[in-house]
Amino acid sequence: MAFDIEMIKSVYENMAERVDKAREITGKPLTLSEKILYSHLWDGKPNKAFVRGKDYVDFAPDRIACQDATAQMALLQFMHAGKPKVAVPTTVHCDHLIQAKVGAEADLKRANETSNEVFDFLESVSNKYGIGFWKPGAGIIHQVVLENYAFPGGMMIGTDSHTVNAGGLGMVAIGVGGADAVDVMAGMPWELKFPKLIGVKLTGKLSGWTAPKDVILKVAGILTVKGGTGAIVEYFGEGAESMSCTGKGTICNMGAEVGATTSTFGYDDSMDRYLRSTGRSDVADAANAVKDYLTADPEVHANPEQYFDQVIEINLSELEPHLNGPFTPDLATPISEMKNAAKANDWPLRVEYGLIGSCTNSSYEDISRAASLAKQVADKKLKTKSNFTITPGSEQVRYTIERDGFIDTFDKIGATVFANACGPCIGMWDRYGGSSEDKDRNTIVHSFNRNFAKRADGNPNTLAFVGSPELVTAIAISGRLDFNPLTDKLINEDGEEVMLDEPRGYELPPEGFAVEDAGYIQPAEDGSGVQVAVSPSSERLQLLSPFKPWDGKNITGAKLLIKAFGKCTTDHISMAGPWLRFRGHLDNIANNTLIGAVNAFNQKTNFVKNQLTGEYGGVPDVQREYKAAGVPTLVVGDHNYGEGSSREHAAMQPRHLGVRAVLVKSFARIHETNLKKQGMLALTFANEADYDKIQEDDTFNFVDLESFAPETPLTLEVVHADGTKDTIIANHTYNDSQIEWFKAGSALNLIAAGEA
Ligand code: F3S
Repeated sequence: MAFDIEMIKSVYENMAERVDKAREITGKPLTLSEKILYSHLWDGKPNKAFVRGKDYVDFAPDRIACQDATAQMALLQFMHAGKPKVAVPTTVHCDHLIQAKVGAEADLKRANETSNEVFDFLESVSNKYGIGFWKPGAGIIHQVVLENYAFPGGMMIGTDSHTVNAGGLGMVAIGVGGADAVDVMAGMPWELKFPKLIGVKLTGKLSGWTAPKDVILKVAGILTVKGGTGAIVEYFGEGAESMSCTGKGTICNMGAEVGATTSTFGYDDSMDRYLRSTGRSDVADAANAVKDYLTADPEVHANPEQYFDQVIEINLSELEPHLNGPFTPDLATPISEMKNAAKANDWPLRVEYGLIGSCTNSSYEDISRAASLAKQVADKKLKTKSNFTITPGSEQVRYTIERDGFIDTFDKIGATVFANACGPCIGMWDRYGGSSEDKDRNTIVHSFNRNFAKRADGNPNTLAFVGSPELVTAIAISGRLDFNPLTDKLINEDGEEVMLDEPRGYELPPEGFAVEDAGYIQPAEDGSGVQVAVSPSSERLQLLSPFKPWDGKNITGAKLLIKAFGKCTTDHISMAGPWLRFRGHLDNIANNTLIGAVNAFNQKTNFVKNQLTGEYGGVPDVQREYKAAGVPTLVVGDHNYGEGSSREHAAMQPRHLGVRAVLVKSFARIHETNLKKQGMLALTFANEADYDKIQEDDTFNFVDLESFAPETPLTLEVVHADGTKDTIIANHTYNDSQIEWFKAGSALNLIAAGEA
């Protein structure tokens, strides 16, 4: 599907030289992660050893993947970077905007009606700028990437946190915000703090009821949801080699649930087999020729403690199937302990739904193993007690499993097959036929990755447990959360006691993959004539206009918009939920700007004083009045301002509404960078106690912005309502090129002017 073998070959050509150089410079054997990182430096050959967890490094990723929800703003921004084509191979996948309700066909039809203009927009922009487009129903981004684009030793970024799934094919694949993706599309480097490294040594071999999913469920129990933060998790050992490539993908996928930057596996025969089976023998041949560079050096595996920051060892032969949850993916319970755990915690035992598939677990292997259990329902005269759904990860998998009779097997147990899309995995599941608030406490089990409150069905009272597709299927057949298929019997229609046989399946389809229409649309060779149509009356999409450049003068007379109290995450600054619908329409989504932030003067949200009128109103409304009056404004915040997701909307919206500066005790780094990219002033109090000096009616005058320079703090005069004044010193971290972004009005303006 138009994967670029020449690009892959050129990565491999450079790899040997760059990895050898990195080994020489660091003076030690290298892990796989380091080999991939050092061979993707923006400057080419390595010339210094980076400090893990400390140095910020510019990289040159090989690919970009975007999903439909995040691609909207990313592509709107790219459009005004003034480039004829994306600088690196990029794909867009329509998977998030399809709601699961009745079944694949009807759901897809409805999505095509309700989100038609978004899909059309994404398709035409893709066509114009050389981006591969996967239409609605083609599949879930991560499964499609694994089947078509991921390659051992490559580096990819994607605008979705489960981009990390591609680690199953030996990549370093990382989830980023749209702003980062736009930079790389426009030919700029991508910056990342050089990650720490966690090694996971897998010994033994999986068997019986245990699946690759149980490896990551176990790891999540060990590391917790924060344990992987800032680190790449690298798996190795005989146990790793014994697992399928798609099983490795599942493990890497859920690395996001331990907060890891990404996860990866060294190249092995399972990857060779997967590449050949998915029509990429030339990639397998190219990888085999540089095999040693696509895995860690032998000394690393012999002495992992010496080369990783942390090492975990898991014996797959002893690993039990797990169920993790509810409400958090790191609450790991081996299935043999579930009876006691469920009782102790009063978890409802009756399971309402078993859901398999999604980006995490929808490989041919997963489905064939789950189908081997579904088949036993008829063979052993059982009845499936829970509702059961399947979400295939791609049309290729769906078509193949239908051809091989598995869909038929699932049909016989009353399963619903949803569209090849995210659906229940992202909360796009109309489980109740309308509002899901105030619905009963109940239990569901699924093979997805996240199980936070409301994640699947919007009902805060649903307890969701995560397990392998095999275990989810067995539990759905039994209808009980505490069913342990290794030891427990079921009573069949004849009143006999029966046990389920262990799941059996195929790593890859014995007759090969097949598909009629994979859902891919190749972009035009020359897209210059392609028109991108956005209706001016659209509610969901709006073409962007460039932000105004700085006029070179000190900002004076700026009013305080809000002094945010305590935690102010990107969710507080730009809420998700129903607002996601406006992700492609900056002016509409700006109506949620800072509505979740707590006003330090009254402890209320979305209730701030308009200094022009003396009246109180919602933050966006008040800000729009300041903007209309031509009055600049400033936002004040507490510690770690802008933590949370990397969504660029949190920086674009205040900028669009006319906020000029954000002055806080400290920033979450990604948000700080996003503010800089959008041409805002991101400043921190030199003296944190100055936060307390800020009053509700304050006016701010910058004294020395005209000589804005790196490593030189700025001075602000704060004029209080009674006429008294304070002088506040504001630090900043702008370097020379970031100051150019500020001057130009935004980083993209600079790119568009051809100066970046
Ligand atoms: Fe994400 Fe699941 Fe879709 S984790 S990509 S929502 S299937």
